[in-house]
Amino acid sequence: MKKLFTFLKRAAVAGAAALAVVSLQPVSANAAPNPVVGGTRAAQGEFPFMVRLSMGCGGALYTQQIVLTAAHCVSGSGNNTSITATAGVVDLQSTSGRVQVRSTKVLQAPGYNGTGKDWALIKLAQPINLPTLKIATTSQYNTGDFTVAGWGAAREGGAQQRYLLKATVPFVSDATCKAYGGLYDDLVPGEEICAGFAAGGVDTCQGDSGGPMFRKDNAGAWIQVGIVSWGEGCARPNAPGVYTEVSTFASAIAQAASTL
Ligand code: ARG
Repeated sequence: MKKLFTFLKRAAVAGAAALAVVSLQPVSANAAPNPVVGGTRAAQGEFPFMVRLSMGCGGALYTQQIVLTAAHCVSGSGNNTSITATAGVVDLQSTSGRVQVRSTKVLQAPGYNGTGKDWALIKLAQPINLPTLKIATTSQYNTGDFTVAGWGAAREGGAQQRYLLKATVPFVSDATCKAYGGLYDDLVPGEEICAGFAAGGVDTCQGDSGGPMFRKDNAGAWIQVGIVSWGEGCARPNAPGVYTEVSTFASAIAQAASTL
């Protein structure tokens, strides 16, 4: 199973085409009852910054014209008009309130090689008039309970979802996360943050990649602390989800965004 997962991750890294092969399936009209894995449906407007990307990933509005996603969701940097971002709806098939905008450029994290640094920016052709999600610039919010959301699989190996699903997962320390061994031996503690229950059952999954992991800040506003990156299967016991540690890259992200 570890070999298979490694293949999935590498395949996703290879680019959108490969990602589609391993994780993108037609959106089903029958949403599974247990969304993200072990989650529930998000209400319309609950997470207005959530974006679905056409290569089968999630993202969040960093600015109204820039989406923050995962490096493994894109294949490199440069001009790119092939990605469609969908926002404004929890139901991807609803046309009311739905905004769809094409990409103009992609910026993959400098130095990204498949281990850590799993972030990327996508510049949109037009701004989307919806609230953005601010990112954590210090490590102070890298603790507690986190919200995750996405249109990815509701169970390991399952179909992509029509409706946005959400779940809550607790912080897992780097030491605990690394101690699970196997793929978790490769955890990059300064660049990745783990979250999930030791018993499993609740997790992000294939197709949620690139989407935000977030919580409330001291002022009660949503703040992004993670980007869905990888895990060993989905929602398995002793196999937390691994997220890009956003605070580590906050200045690099701001700097990169200023060049787009
Ligand atoms: N790499 C996956 C994707 O491309 C995300 C996997 C998240 N897995 C997990 N167990 N939390 O969609």
